[in-house]
Amino acid sequence: MSRRDKITVQTLLEMKRRGERIVMLTAYDYQTALLEDRAGVDMMLVGDSVGMVVLGYENTIPVTLEEIVHHLKAVARARPRALLVGDLPFMSYQAGVEDAVRNAGRLLKEGGAEAVKLEGGRRMAAVIRAILDADIPVMGHLGLTPQSLHQMGGYRVQGKDPAGAEKLLQEARLLQETGCFSIVLEGIPWQLAEEITSSVSIPTIGIGAGPHCDGQVLVVNDLLGMTEGFTPKFVKRYAELNREIGRAFDTFISEVREGKFPDSDHSYSRD
Ligand code: KIV
Repeated sequence: MSRRDKITVQTLLEMKRRGERIVMLTAYDYQTALLEDRAGVDMMLVGDSVGMVVLGYENTIPVTLEEIVHHLKAVARARPRALLVGDLPFMSYQAGVEDAVRNAGRLLKEGGAEAVKLEGGRRMAAVIRAILDADIPVMGHLGLTPQSLHQMGGYRVQGKDPAGAEKLLQEARLLQETGCFSIVLEGIPWQLAEEITSSVSIPTIGIGAGPHCDGQVLVVNDLLGMTEGFTPKFVKRYAELNREIGRAFDTFISEVREGKFPDSDHSYSRD
């Protein structure tokens, strides 16, 4: 495969078969999508994390379908080579199969997504089947599922006990049988992620699930050092852009106040 071939669901399945690691990042805007695509990520996710890292919500519960569509459109304008996945936000698929199919369809038709992601295992099987019947590829999401925050009693690592681990293993198998093309594994012990990864033939994409998944996803703002406050153990900051941006703002403010900017280099002249 040449580096410029469009990534499809089939490409990802072949990558797993060949043992090639899959790289996924969230993206919420056109410019970041261009940079990620230029760097060569395989999958881009317009995640409901947009609510927390871009829109300032406390968690992902308030995120609306319109907000996901809005950010998807911006990312889709970058025409990424990466497979573009749109996240179905809370209550856009839980209330019924018809709702779920219509909303998944909007992510493709209006937002330009090429696949959708939704959280949950066995209880989502009928919804996943219906979305797949509309020829929309579905990515599953198991483990620490942030939309179940209140049910879980906080953001807690899942599958630590044998019964919880067995349930997640069975749910991963079920998502594969149902037809998901891939599964995000979030916030589970690495040993369980390894077991799930070797038990399914579809790619697992980890976040807080250790090194043995078929691929890895991070929230782009975390990777770039653009988030503040609590940083989960699984986050690695590859840059400290908040610091850099703060420095640029400080310099701009002092140069304007001291009359150093704009100077002649940044001004127009009659001649
Ligand atoms: O919304 C999101 O960013 C996600 C990833 C963390 C997988 O669901």
